[in-house]
Amino acid sequence: MPNYRQMGQTPTKRHTKLSVDASKSFLGEGMAYEHVVTTAGFNRAYSILYHLRPPTRNSRVEFVRNLDIQAAEKLPLRQHHIQSQNLPRSGDPILGRVPMMFNDDLICWRVRPESSQNELYRNGAADEVIFIQQGSGVIETSQGILPYRRGDYVVLPRTTTYRFLPDEIGREDHLVLECMSPVRIPSRYQNEDGQMLLGCPYYERDFHGPVDLATINKEVQTTVLIKDHDRLTRVTMPHHPFDVIGWDGFVYPYTFNAWDFEPLTGTIHLPPPFQQTFECRGFVICTFAPRYLDHHPDAIKVPYAHSNVEADEVLFYVEGQFGSRRGVEQCSMTLHPGGIPHGPHPGTIQASMDATRTDEMAVMFDTERKLFLTQDAMQLDDPKYPLSWLEG
Ligand SMILES: [Fe+2]
Repeated sequence: MPNYRQMGQTPTKRHTKLSVDASKSFLGEGMAYEHVVTTAGFNRAYSILYHLRPPTRNSRVEFVRNLDIQAAEKLPLRQHHIQSQNLPRSGDPILGRVPMMFNDDLICWRVRPESSQNELYRNGAADEVIFIQQGSGVIETSQGILPYRRGDYVVLPRTTTYRFLPDEIGREDHLVLECMSPVRIPSRYQNEDGQMLLGCPYYERDFHGPVDLATINKEVQTTVLIKDHDRLTRVTMPHHPFDVIGWDGFVYPYTFNAWDFEPLTGTIHLPPPFQQTFECRGFVICTFAPRYLDHHPDAIKVPYAHSNVEADEVLFYVEGQFGSRRGVEQCSMTLHPGGIPHGPHPGTIQASMDATRTDEMAVMFDTERKLFLTQDAMQLDDPKYPLSWLEG
């Protein structure tokens, strides 16, 4: 989590009464209702929210359906190019998500919504990292209004209730990583006092939390669609859940823009750990931002061919010309699985020698466990990609 934040009203001491106007309070009790959101049991980051009504009030709970993610079958071990730029627009920012690949630690989705999100949504079992490939607007959350823009990683901790309010729904295009473990700042980027190190690729000011609480104080039947693992549940509350008048702590939705990542350059090629942005159990998320290239007089400025024997590597191409790869476009996704080598395309090594800068922007996630492609992803797969390293 980035750092401590506080919004709205909180009592001087935690777990003590926060008084509110008795005439407007729930049951005339004249107090707000504390709600502690914890991670790792009670042992790591947490936040304390103060609601106008108990957050436990439900008037109806109903099973909706199980999501059925179908893995592609009988695939050989090979490189893949998933042309997700060809994904048709469908659904809303939540139910329009199409699964691309998954393992026990994450599910990767792509969504190009065509309709607005009319129902509040909450992921009860996973943190979500939503990369905004295209789009802008605000996300209404229980902890306030979170503005977002192109290039943002929007990090929504599990249990955050939210709704997308884009400026223009037809422009939205997201890469969604559903992360089974909490999404964290790598501990090697922080000093012993918990502050981001001077030498790390971002700073606390690059992380943006909610800007306005926009508290809704209303007895109104409100539904929330909740996802936990493959199950969808609909809960109806007799009041609006955005009734928080204050909160503080380390768990909250925030954004970090990929163009705020400070890339490093050496005299020779620096490997992906230098691009790491987030840390999760079983995988890392990295940002390949526009940067100066290696400056040894004989430096080869595209990555060397390598066998990533203990990782599956996925690149999502955001913008720019990709020096090492031919045939990829914006929103292309490549999966280079462990066990077979991959590397620069023919001609790109020599072509890189005189380059001094790259304008490429890409998001990468590297997983420890094998990734399974979905049948939906295979609809977008370029079958010729594994043979694309042949000369010519
Ligand atoms: Fe690689």
